[in-house]
Amino acid sequence: MSALFTPLKIKDVTLRNRLGMAPMCQYSSVDGVAQPWHMTHIGARAVGGAGLIIAEATAVTPDGRITPACAGLWNDAQVEALIPINAYAKSQGAVIGVQIAHAGRKGSSARPWDGGAHLKDDEGGWQTISPTDEVFDQDGTRLFKAPHAMSVAEIKAMQDAFVASTKRALAAGYELLELHGAHGYLLHSFFTPLVNTRTDQYGGDFEGRSRMMRETVEAVRKVWPERLPLAVRLSVTDWIDGGLTIDDNIQLMKVLRDLGVDMVDCSGGGATPAARASIGTRTADQVGLAAQMRKETGLITAAVGCIDTAAKAEGVIASGQADIALMARQFLRDPFAAMHFAQELGADAKSQVSIPVGHFVA
Ligand SMILES: Cc1cc2nc3c(=O)[nH]c(=O)nc-3n(C[C@H](O)[C@H](O)[C@H](O)COP(=O)(O)O)c2cc1C
Repeated sequence: MSALFTPLKIKDVTLRNRLGMAPMCQYSSVDGVAQPWHMTHIGARAVGGAGLIIAEATAVTPDGRITPACAGLWNDAQVEALIPINAYAKSQGAVIGVQIAHAGRKGSSARPWDGGAHLKDDEGGWQTISPTDEVFDQDGTRLFKAPHAMSVAEIKAMQDAFVASTKRALAAGYELLELHGAHGYLLHSFFTPLVNTRTDQYGGDFEGRSRMMRETVEAVRKVWPERLPLAVRLSVTDWIDGGLTIDDNIQLMKVLRDLGVDMVDCSGGGATPAARASIGTRTADQVGLAAQMRKETGLITAAVGCIDTAAKAEGVIASGQADIALMARQFLRDPFAAMHFAQELGADAKSQVSIPVGHFVA
């Protein structure tokens, strides 16, 4: 019996298995609108048996994109383009979620394959925003320009933007909503003391630094149906002295759980450009932290980071470290990873995929 290939019910949503695709920017949208590429990217993993697919960081406002080619959910054209993609993924047996996000001071960047440097206004860039006006790459390697420090009115308007995108996510057919609270983007940058040095009610102690996250969760939960799961992705550690630790994040998730969050997606790093704070390179450590989070909060927990084989994914679930094993890069390498893992683990691979693909499974 494979633990990985056991269904999981979260609220009214049932995953056919516990292997999910982690959110991955595709840098392939036009004005935030999904393209045929996205149908292929999402559709292929749905056909390939993924239980859950969390669509890429999707910006709540145009300046919330990381690059000009990032996805958005701030207008109706974006919703229209997503409806057939999500309907198709669902028809293939996958549950499809979306990660709504604001890039904060890490926005206005070139696509990775164009170097990832900060884009100036005359290169299609924009003024970024952050809890403070401190620049991301303080060593100047990527030539970021100073962000605008948000006023309280701008913070409130941002929470409204998260709410508006939540309504659009529902209209687009997503069944799980994830708030991007990781990787140094806006919500994380409010919580981590590495970035947030504000002295008003949105900074200072735990209460102040967690206020943005708490108020956003509260506002979003009011419009995201109770029957559907609400998740938060956190950097469960900043990996840097003076930054957030797993204990800070457990404290946060207990509060967010009581505000109606159902699931925590345990990523790490990204608050600063330091190599030791990078995202996704800490396999065992990160899964161990997810296990700690799960034990302490009782929340449905997703582990992520260097899970790339059937044995690793099965181990994460069978050992009780997490409820969902998320993979990013391995799903890029192999869109049929779920089906292949099922075969390897002796699970019923056919039941993981729909006709006609199932017809061809040996
Ligand atoms: C191409 C690519 C794009 C990514 N985009 C996002 C994103 O939009 N949101 C996010 O939270 N993480 C993003 N990540 C991080 C992944 O979700 C994941 O946490 C990380 O890659 C570690 O998992 P892995 O070892 O299975 O690749 C991205 C990773 C890759 C490789």
